[in-house]
Amino acid sequence: MQIINTVSDLRALIKAWRRSGESIAFVPTMGNLHAGHIDLVNKAKICADRVVVSIFVNPTQFGEGEDFLTYPRTEQADQSQLEVVGVDALFLPAVEDIYSPNAATSITVNGLSERYCGAFRPGHFSGVATVVCKLFNIVQPDKALFGLKDFQQLTVIKSMVQDLNIPVEIISVDTVREASGLALSSRNGYLTDLEKQLAPELYKVLCAAKAAILQGELNITEIEQQAIKKLEFYGFKPDYLSICRSQDLSPATSKDIELVVLVAAKLGKTRLIDNLCFSKVI
Ligand code: PAJ
Repeated sequence: MQIINTVSDLRALIKAWRRSGESIAFVPTMGNLHAGHIDLVNKAKICADRVVVSIFVNPTQFGEGEDFLTYPRTEQADQSQLEVVGVDALFLPAVEDIYSPNAATSITVNGLSERYCGAFRPGHFSGVATVVCKLFNIVQPDKALFGLKDFQQLTVIKSMVQDLNIPVEIISVDTVREASGLALSSRNGYLTDLEKQLAPELYKVLCAAKAAILQGELNITEIEQQAIKKLEFYGFKPDYLSICRSQDLSPATSKDIELVVLVAAKLGKTRLIDNLCFSKVI
């Protein structure tokens, strides 16, 4: 695995691969890799000749008072894992390589970026869209893989790619969970032992909301409110729990078929997000 720190070195490597006609799959990450990230990498290996992974804790997607400075940085362990799975290149840029002090351009996917997590993390999705667009311009991959775990992020990126005619195919990958149902996340490491025991309730509440819909309950607001009450009972402080159309994340009506339940809730100091995507047609 080649470890690359600068944009120019990465461009040179990509140019050489392109010259020999090789296709490229790209997995952007912020590191502290877990089995969810590794699953993306394994899927990337199947769909292209070469795999590039980036690890970049992107400052512009963290708000004031969020965990940018304390975000877990585990570079050595990450490198070993990527080496084992057989990644071709690991891109590890410094902040100065990605953002010049005079940078004046950013990308915002309007509407979508202000709802759900965007309402609680102003500027977050603009930071994500901007860095992902920049990474796409640097790597110029044929395919890029993203986790369904971050459903709203995935929807924002798909919109950006479509709106800006970026020539990359976005591949979405299922959420990897612990046996308890808890979605793997770099932020799970912040949970105390007691919180770890409670955290799987988040997924159970999503499953219960899905079950209510599939059993024919038509009052969506009622299902959302019941779910929020359950979360509060277990000690979560929910930011939102919303049942949406999976296509565009607009609020679902009882007539919609393809749905996703989105949730974000704090457990102690840790903000957890999860979602469950399903179809009413079996
Ligand atoms: P990060 O949180 O490191 O996640 C990198 C990728 O791994 C994302 O596509 C995310 O959806 C996916 N992922 C995280 N947990 C997962 C799980 N349990 N199962 C499957 N996939 C999972 O998301 C980011 O970084 C950043 O916002 C980024 C896109 C890199 C831009 O900075």
